[in-house]
Amino acid sequence: MKKISWMLGLVLMLAACQSATEPTTETTTSKAVSSINWGTVDGKEVKLYTLTNKNGVEVKITNYGGIVTSWITADKKGNKSNVVLGFDSLSGYLAKPPYFGAIIGRYGNRIGNATFKIDTATYQLAANDGKQHLHGGNKGYDKVVWDAQPSDSTASLTLTYLSKDGEEGYPGNLSITVVYTLTDADELLMEYSAETDKTTPVNLTNHSYFNLTGDVANTILSHQLQVHADKYTPVDAGLIPTGELKAVKDGPFDFLQPHQIGERIAQVPGGYDHNFVLNRTSADLELVATLSDSISGRKLEVYTTEPGLQFYSGNFLDGSIKTSSGQPIQQHAALCLETQHFPDSPNKPEFPSTLLKPGEKYHTVTKYKITLQ
Ligand code: BGC
Repeated sequence: MKKISWMLGLVLMLAACQSATEPTTETTTSKAVSSINWGTVDGKEVKLYTLTNKNGVEVKITNYGGIVTSWITADKKGNKSNVVLGFDSLSGYLAKPPYFGAIIGRYGNRIGNATFKIDTATYQLAANDGKQHLHGGNKGYDKVVWDAQPSDSTASLTLTYLSKDGEEGYPGNLSITVVYTLTDADELLMEYSAETDKTTPVNLTNHSYFNLTGDVANTILSHQLQVHADKYTPVDAGLIPTGELKAVKDGPFDFLQPHQIGERIAQVPGGYDHNFVLNRTSADLELVATLSDSISGRKLEVYTTEPGLQFYSGNFLDGSIKTSSGQPIQQHAALCLETQHFPDSPNKPEFPSTLLKPGEKYHTVTKYKITLQ
């Protein structure tokens, strides 16, 4: 009996040691960035990084797909919750949700008939959305492991990836850097840079889905949206722009003044999934859209250097994907405001060009800022 209790004591002691050593998986890489091991993909280590600012806002990012997995902020009552769709573990992402929080590339949104020409050469891309090419193909930048370097001094994470010549059909080795920085003004800054050794289209974006209430049981139909765009790009049945830049004036795409998203969505077959032609006054970072929610009191401002904004109202979400706590993610449970060049630009010479040539530097900046109204 004595021996049994002695052994039990030893087992309990070992168990205590075990749990005491567990937190060492959390490596504090800097004051503002910590990381944990999250698994392995393609033989490469995947980590989950946590960026924290002085207000206690916390943004988690994994180097798998450069995905923003959560963004935790306080609502008007001081209750903290996650305002983006994401999962607690890597397995959720390996099940291929529709680009939750990911970096999208080489080309964000669609390229018609999955093909384009540069001079006399025709390039054939993966047709992964009916006949069209969507978000970089079968294995876009949302499904690759990026190299990650957390900053020593700020809440910042630098991700790099070399997209090889011919990957998903694109020409040229494209060397990409994306820097995510969480500022003390509660902004998530995203800075995209790239260089190529052959002329190629490039259109990088982030595909975060927001629900400012922090609860997917609420839809985003009661959120208010304002977009500084006099025009948008109408699409055909395959969601490819027709080429027309159409005035939004007085129709369901007119968000020049704030409107509830649900107010006119029934007038848009399938829901909003359109590129807005932003009213720019300079090439600098400018405020292009504001989303607000009266339930939580939160407000999201979108700033960008890009000419376009894809407003996607979560139309294809259908409850089949569940959050890590088991809640079904229903249609309109979240929305995306993707800063970008216009869809199908490689086939639309009248749109701003997305071609990057050897010797040129691709550089765009987008900033999401979440504060209280
Ligand atoms: C596209 C949608 C697509 C969604 C998820 C958005 O950027 O515009 O058509 O369904 O991404 O893939």
